Amino acid sequence: MPRNLLDDIKETLISAEQIQQRVLELGQQLNADYADSEREIIFIGVLKGALMFMVDLARAVNLPISIDFMAVSSYGASTQSSGIVRIIKDLDASIEGKDVVVVEDIVDSGLTLSYMLDNLRSRNPASLKVCALLNKKDRRTVDTQLDYLGFDVPDAFVVGYGLDYNQLYRNLPFIGVLKPELYR
Ligand code: IMP
Ligand code: MG
Repeated sequence: MPRNLLDDIKETLISAEQIQQRVLELGQQLNADYADSEREIIFIGVLKGALMFMVDLARAVNLPISIDFMAVSSYGASTQSSGIVRIIKDLDASIEGKDVVVVEDIVDSGLTLSYMLDNLRSRNPASLKVCALLNKKDRRTVDTQLDYLGFDVPDAFVVGYGLDYNQLYRNLPFIGVLKPELYR
């Protein structure tokens, strides 16, 4: 295991400052878009990757939101999506009739998100939007909804700011590319 996470990073893709700036912009966009909503607003974070993004985004909005989390299995210990999505932890509360914003770390193949959206839609929210920090659009295999996006990223395995490799690197404050020899 690395004792200094930085030794395992090939390059920084998005700096901590760039992330913070973009999160503030997304927060302002959400403030404007939901200003007139008279419904309950709920942000649903997808664990564990969206953890950092959720806490920063939630503090960047001045809307009366509640926060809930869902955990789904997608990757296990590999860097490829299995296509098998399983709910590990479900929401605590009903989303029926509420304005829902799904907060995701990254949309890669799109399998995880499209499964989640189908599942959430069946619970009859009043509206359902997606806010993802990162989009790896070159790797998309299923078309997915993406309403708010932080950054497009190239097809490389990225870690940091919530994103992991084998559960590590989530606590890096920036988005970096892992040295390829570490996962090949
Ligand atoms: P998808 O189902 O292929 O779209 O994968 C979505 C999930 O895989 C994300 O929510 C991440 O948890 C994980 N993931 C995809 N790409 C990366 C990456 O480059 N680094 C870390 N996790 C990733
Ligand atoms: Mg995730």
